Amino acid sequence: MKVGILTGGGDCPGLNAVVRGVTKSALKRGWEVIGFRDGYRGLVEKDLVALGDGDVSGIIIRGGTILGTSNTANPFAYTLPPLGSVEKPRDLSKLAFKNFRDLGLGALVAIGGDGTLTMAQQLYKRGMPVIGVPKTIDNDLSATDVTFGFDSALNVATEAVDRVHTTAQSHHRVMIVETMGRYAGWIALRAGIAGGGDIILLPEIPYRAKDIIKAVLDRKRRGKKFSIVVVAEGARPEKGRMTVTKVIKGSPDPLRLGGVSYKIAELLDNSSVGLESRVVVLGHVQRGGEPTPFDRWLATGFGVKAAELLAHKKFGQMVSFRDFAFTGVSIAAAVSKLRRVSPKAQEVRAALAVGVSFGNSRITG
Ligand code: F6P
Repeated sequence: MKVGILTGGGDCPGLNAVVRGVTKSALKRGWEVIGFRDGYRGLVEKDLVALGDGDVSGIIIRGGTILGTSNTANPFAYTLPPLGSVEKPRDLSKLAFKNFRDLGLGALVAIGGDGTLTMAQQLYKRGMPVIGVPKTIDNDLSATDVTFGFDSALNVATEAVDRVHTTAQSHHRVMIVETMGRYAGWIALRAGIAGGGDIILLPEIPYRAKDIIKAVLDRKRRGKKFSIVVVAEGARPEKGRMTVTKVIKGSPDPLRLGGVSYKIAELLDNSSVGLESRVVVLGHVQRGGEPTPFDRWLATGFGVKAAELLAHKKFGQMVSFRDFAFTGVSIAAAVSKLRRVSPKAQEVRAALAVGVSFGNSRITG
């Protein structure tokens, strides 16, 4: 068998560990492996590289992806020159199928998040033998308890919260740390809890300005002249919208969020809290660098499981980590719904129990 691999969408730590896991276990079975460059662009434009044992040696600790990625290359609405353009997206899925056949491939492993896996599902529905691997720092894919990349991002975000604590304390300030996560608040929630944040703002729990101010004032009254706010980029006021920083034409999910932390700073600076505020937007720092040991372990397990699903011809499936076991689930089910934080979750109640405010007094646990 000859297997193709691609990494699509936003990168994250652990992609190389999956590529290594798939490649090594495929080579052991006597299969050939090729990697497509820059996600689906490589499949559409036949830009590829053969992957041998030496090519994947030593990459388990490397962040990013040796194959490159793209969050705009979509075979069904191709916008990348020279074959397409942002103004006139082209359906090049037939070309993708032709390339797949011409290369003599028996299967494709698509490593990616929501967008990449949705395209994988569309290809599968049209007859391509595909296996998915769930990647994203946002941890927002249903059908898996965790995605790789999340733990590494969480480590970065928690370290940032830890670090701003001392300076917040010295200067008697409100420090506001903004995390990524798109429409899910997992990074902010877990980094906020792990870093001992005082106020955690999530997309799933719209905030009220007066409740954020009250939380800071309550702390002040108890002698705590500083506060740490951890805010997810998708957080929004109860009567308002998310903060969009950019619109990327041609992207399957064109909205880029960011900047809500400045709004929180402004509302605190214009309030009666009497403390200066400062903002730290973590951005892509959360996606860079080496994967944590957990992500290397998870990504290796995912890669090996993907090869196992291929061996059993379980196409149309995505590898998943459920109840401490690697398994396969249908890609269709996995991409049908986002996994978001429930305001009733046990960990939300735990945070409330240790005094965290979610910026909304209606959330009381
Ligand atoms: O989905 C991963 C993610 O990092 C989100 O948390 C973030 O909103 C988005 O991608 C940023 O995308 P880009 O890399 O295109 O700026």
